[in-house]
Amino acid sequence: YTAELDSQDLEKGTYEHYMLKEMEEQPAVIRRILSKYLDEHGNLTISKEVLDQLKASDRIYIVACGTSYHAGLVGKKLFETLTHIPTEVHIASEFGYHMPLLTKSPFFIFLSQSGETADSRQVLVQVADRYPTLTMTNTPGSTLSREASHTLLLHAGPEIAVASTKAYTAQLAVLAILANVLGQSLQNELALSFDLAHELSLVASGLEEVMAEKGQFEELAKEVISDQAHAFYIGRGLDYYVALEAALKLKEISYVHCEGYAAGELKHGPIALIENETPVIALLTEASTLDHTRGNMKEVESRGARVISLVSEQYATEQDTIVLPKVHSLLTPLITVLPTQYLAYYTSLNRGLDVDKPRNLAKSVTVE
Ligand code: G6P
Repeated sequence: YTAELDSQDLEKGTYEHYMLKEMEEQPAVIRRILSKYLDEHGNLTISKEVLDQLKASDRIYIVACGTSYHAGLVGKKLFETLTHIPTEVHIASEFGYHMPLLTKSPFFIFLSQSGETADSRQVLVQVADRYPTLTMTNTPGSTLSREASHTLLLHAGPEIAVASTKAYTAQLAVLAILANVLGQSLQNELALSFDLAHELSLVASGLEEVMAEKGQFEELAKEVISDQAHAFYIGRGLDYYVALEAALKLKEISYVHCEGYAAGELKHGPIALIENETPVIALLTEASTLDHTRGNMKEVESRGARVISLVSEQYATEQDTIVLPKVHSLLTPLITVLPTQYLAYYTSLNRGLDVDKPRNLAKSVTVE
């Protein structure tokens, strides 16, 4: 593996922080993943053995921690849409001690950037000799990779900053590839008509468009978030899953207490926390729930919140704050997450914190 590493991968180069470097590598990571998973005929491929075991399973169980867990939530949507195999996502430290009733033929997927997370490993050890297991990891030869029946690599290059960024997008891209190739071999109509390689390359260009406008995130972080103690991200469906990851990122590196909330659930409790100037950042990429989430934005605005909207260009209005490039509806998290990474990054800088090494956190947690 080391042979694959460029010395640049381990250095910050002209970047001030690893986190910024890793965020801005995301377009290149997606293109690298495509090159690794495309065969000589230009088709995305996954080994037949993995596909056969997945096809024989009646349910997929995704197990992970932290940011990888949030990637798993998006994975559930991808698997269920493109393969129709029911999929559950579990936090490893819960699953291991409160195992749900399993179906007859489960297939386990462990998501782990480091491949060393102890909470995930203790689940793998419990299930590995009974069921097929696959580890999706950035680290070849890692413990979780060695102990699972199969490995799919993320090819994101080393991630040095404690807060995970490019490994999240890499996980989404590889999950999409696995789901779509599996869906095609199951003759799923949507999967058959989905030109994923093309759509992922559009995502890579879309990310570059967002990067070119990063000044606006720096300004918003300063004007709206940096002086606040609390914030919310809201969204529905895939946008909700990204809201969870966005809130984690802001907490991790800026120490602003932030919650990711299902937009419709806000009124059932947390709206009590909205005060003058509380930042509420809404993610809007889905036609079917757009109006409802806009309604939720009004509810908090009328209670004093500073609302920022991140919206796909096809749904944007004059009132929206940030307009994001349009990508395939199953791939929107790959785009929406980048602005939220920038907001966390600049908020951390404004507060004078150590972006790459936040307090109390470790890059990989090898204790349960
Ligand atoms: C630690 C890191 C997180 C990461 C989590 C899971 O808590 O600080 O950024 O998401 O572990 O790590 P993994 O390597 O299993 O993806």
